[in-house]
Amino acid sequence: MSILINGSAVALPDDPRVSLLDLLREGLHLAGTKKGCNQGACGACTVLVDGARIVSCLALAVQYDGRQVTTIEGLADGDALHPLQQAFIDHDGFQCGYCTPGQICSAIGMAAEAKRGVPSHVSADLTADVTLTREELQERMSGNLCRCGAHNGIIDAIRETLTVEMGAAELAA
Ligand code: FES
Ligand code: FES
Repeated sequence: MSILINGSAVALPDDPRVSLLDLLREGLHLAGTKKGCNQGACGACTVLVDGARIVSCLALAVQYDGRQVTTIEGLADGDALHPLQQAFIDHDGFQCGYCTPGQICSAIGMAAEAKRGVPSHVSADLTADVTLTREELQERMSGNLCRCGAHNGIIDAIRETLTVEMGAAELAA
């Protein structure tokens, strides 16, 4: 059994109790993905599996046989940062940086959900196309906590990047 992590095939652990987070951090030394609460409450461990965001602390590695995992280390193109990584720098979207990899992976997964029309708790119309207002972004990113209080910069960075990637028409004032 193997798993694709940032494009490379990796053997899954024999021990079925190993979480995806521990495989990444302890087994592969991909320390960009952070362990905060280790119980699904903070979002620091968020990674992308086949483009969808998950909290890797609650995922058993063996569940993801044959799947494609992208971590923060897999987002940049060589020395060129992913646009959202650059936007976090430009908008002071972090202080200590501990939550940042999870925030960025989560935002990318969130954008894909919005493009598919997945409503959130604050969406007034469950069947309408998603308009990513600031309120929608705050709700959709509410699973990723920032203990430094950088949320305003985080939302600004996401809004700027989505404006480029999704088109300004999909953002409301
Ligand atoms: S470490 Fe996974 S949600 Fe907090
Ligand atoms: S930047 Fe420190 S926890 Fe978010």
